[in-house]
Amino acid sequence: MAHFGEKLRTLRGKTRHPQTQKPLTQQEIADRLKGKINIEYSHVTISNWERDVSQIRQDERDLLIALIEILYEHQGITSLEAANELLEAGHYRALNVPETSQINSQWLNETQETPTISPDTHTLNLPAKTYQDLIGRKAELQQLFDGFEKKMPAAFIVGLGGIGKSALAREAVEQALRADLFETVVWTSAKTERFIDEGIEKIERSSYSFDQLLNDIGRQCNRLEILPLSPEEKRDAVKYLLSQTHILIVLDNLETVEQARQLLDDILDIRGKSQLLITSRHFIDHPLVTQIRLGGFSQDQGIRFLRAESKLKGIDAVTQAGERTLKRIHDATGGAPLAMKLVIGQMYWLPMDDVLRILADAKFEEQDRDFYRFVFKHSWELLSLNAQKVLVSMSAFAVEDGGTGTSILQVSRVDAPEFTPALKLLIFMSLVDPSQNLQEKRYTIHQLTHYFVLSDIVKKWG
Ligand SMILES: Nc1ncnc2c1ncn2[C@@H]1O[C@H](COP(=O)(O)OP(=O)(O)OP(=O)(O)O)[C@@H](O)[C@H]1O
Ligand SMILES: [Mg+2]
Repeated sequence: MAHFGEKLRTLRGKTRHPQTQKPLTQQEIADRLKGKINIEYSHVTISNWERDVSQIRQDERDLLIALIEILYEHQGITSLEAANELLEAGHYRALNVPETSQINSQWLNETQETPTISPDTHTLNLPAKTYQDLIGRKAELQQLFDGFEKKMPAAFIVGLGGIGKSALAREAVEQALRADLFETVVWTSAKTERFIDEGIEKIERSSYSFDQLLNDIGRQCNRLEILPLSPEEKRDAVKYLLSQTHILIVLDNLETVEQARQLLDDILDIRGKSQLLITSRHFIDHPLVTQIRLGGFSQDQGIRFLRAESKLKGIDAVTQAGERTLKRIHDATGGAPLAMKLVIGQMYWLPMDDVLRILADAKFEEQDRDFYRFVFKHSWELLSLNAQKVLVSMSAFAVEDGGTGTSILQVSRVDAPEFTPALKLLIFMSLVDPSQNLQEKRYTIHQLTHYFVLSDIVKKWG
């Protein structure tokens, strides 16, 4: 902690007392700390910090934030960068989103939001990656690769909403491309559902058809001449294409397709050399399909996931928690990654016992609907009004593509200076995922968040 004291002293030297315009004294800093966090300090303590004789502990975060706030309010610290430099000097982590907005929410407009996921495999029509490093799933990846190598017609990843099916499929695709297992990959996903009155139960199923699938294959293989053909000619043209080219065709979220079984039969009929990778919340029994059931993380994986996620977001209540606490979060969420992400966000504001009690009331069972609805409701209530508005406006965009910052700003009708802080809060809460392709930054929401936002409950709570 060699430089913290020195930096603190320098920054104090830049502060101005509102009346005298002189730098704040050590005693004046101590008095202001008392005003903010109601703990009595003397000028000696401040002097000790400045001489690195004693240090503020990592878990005294409130004290650190109050100190930065005082320096900011008296012009000692004038930028987020300067605040973070002081923290870094003491080996403290940088300000997270809620802390930054507590001090000066305009600072959130200046920075790059975190986490930024590196752009990759742009040339293909792959969805943005929603994770940085895939945790666990080694056995499942191996199983998928065995299937690819044995030229199995189709692999089917089945599991609850938010359990990680698309993430696993996305990773398998990336690794398969790196290993040159396929000439190309076609990624398709049933289009966004519409909602009829009450909520998540009544999802109108997508009418994604065989014809649309053929179009997607034609388009993504750069064979645009296939698109205008008649249905029979198109089928024959794609059949020929698949007999010549070794393609991996991904059908993401097949459960949303009305005629899922028929679609599967139709595509398997003409599959040629190609192979299928399917994700679905519901199982479809089919002789040509190898099934991989995806469950929650094991305790060890769950703990790793919780540590990595909370570190990324700067949520000390989770980063510094002992193994026993992390195990409790893991168990209460059934190790489901999406649920764990939402819980981590909530733990910035609420004591863990409260968060876990709410989860226990919701009960994690085979039927995921109520559970997630419960978890979302809770995160929703922690949002600012502007953040709620921005989240609701995101339902106007297709789930896979999301929107750019500018387009979301327009739809949300939130005042421009308030927009970025609201968006960052949503990212912090794991309700919005930032992603990047070659051209631009985009923001997406998870399928389940999409359902939630469109449901009647949001209107009722709003
Ligand atoms: N193994 C993993 N490592 C790191 N992050 C993960 C992992 N699995 C899932 N996640 C993260 O958890 C969230 C939910 O995962 P994902 O979208 O893959 O769920 P899903 O099963 O496809 O859900 P749905 O049925 O709603 O489509 C995503 O943000 C994803 O990045
Ligand atoms: Mg998915």
